[in-house]
Amino acid sequence: MQIMRLFSLIIAFRSVEARMPEMVRASTAISAGRVVVVAGAAALVVVLLCAAPAPAAVEAVPAGAEVSEFPGFDGDLPSKHYAGYITVGHQPLKRHMYYYFATSERNSTTDPVIIWINGGPACSGFSAFLHSIGPLKIEGPMIHARDEPRTKLNPFSWTKMSSVLLVDSPAGVGYSYSENEDDYVTNDTSRVLDLYDFLSKWFSEYLEFLSNPFYIAGCSYSGVIVPVLAQEILKRNEDNGRIKINFKGYSLCNPAVDVEIENNAFVPYAFRMGLISDELYQNLVSTCNGKYWNNKGPSCLANLEQFHKKPMRNMILVRCLSSFPKAPSMV
Ligand SMILES: *[C@@H]1O[C@H](CO)[C@@H](O)[C@H](O)[C@H]1NC(C)=O
Ligand SMILES: *[C@@H]1O[C@H](CO)[C@@H](O)[C@H](O)[C@H]1NC(C)=O
Repeated sequence: MQIMRLFSLIIAFRSVEARMPEMVRASTAISAGRVVVVAGAAALVVVLLCAAPAPAAVEAVPAGAEVSEFPGFDGDLPSKHYAGYITVGHQPLKRHMYYYFATSERNSTTDPVIIWINGGPACSGFSAFLHSIGPLKIEGPMIHARDEPRTKLNPFSWTKMSSVLLVDSPAGVGYSYSENEDDYVTNDTSRVLDLYDFLSKWFSEYLEFLSNPFYIAGCSYSGVIVPVLAQEILKRNEDNGRIKINFKGYSLCNPAVDVEIENNAFVPYAFRMGLISDELYQNLVSTCNGKYWNNKGPSCLANLEQFHKKPMRNMILVRCLSSFPKAPSMV
């Protein structure tokens, strides 16, 4: 399996992502021929009109899925966008997974399809879509806006050369919801199974994209989800009678893979990057015995306190955070 290196991004502390706004839970109103999804605080309104697709539209997409307007954006969308729900789960009470699909601005017939799996766990796919990889970008800082956000074209969008699919996962995140409250208790395994179910059903609704090269991408907590989803796709591709997803690879940035290994790596990492003194490093090594995470030893804790006071927070995190542009709407 090839690993696609779309970009590499290292953020010293994943807690940066934890500070990113989680999309507020959606309240949904459905009326004849029209779906209006309203996200409370952000007042994000996506209007999906049941208009006949324009001549250049992708053929055979589900009726009513084309997005004709995007909140806070006045111009024409740079390519065809679609949105809607895919129902997953086999019990009588179903889970409804919200997706948003922005086709490639180059050639959606041949360009890859990339699904973005967001981190958190449980941040809406929109947080990456509207802040970094999508064709539209929220104007202003990467922090909750009190007012209805304005969006503008993103010159660095991945849709310049690929079609991007985002999904709110698991049900309960963003606009995705379940008919059964118990479903809101999830785990990594159930999430992967729902994602596979989602993908196979999504591809049966968007069959014209089934032959395109398919990639999975994500950051942070999706380091736990994406490789397992990749494995599930490869496994299910072997089943007869199932949809065969043209899976090519996956890309992870800043991935969470193993809490213990990662948290124990901070100290050697900071030392090798020249962020802490030889003296502090030697003290940490001798008092913590290589265990920098969940170590209750008083002298280790005292050195860890020095460590957290000094290198990362001062040299990376604070500078990064303070370099975001300020705007009146910043919380
Ligand atoms: C996209 O690629 C296909 C296959 O190579 C080609 O037939 C089609 O003309 C291309 N479309 C555009 C808009 O370039
Ligand atoms: C994960 O969730 C599924 C579905 O709710 C459940 O059947 C399974 O036992 C759970 N697995 C673990 C390890 O908790």
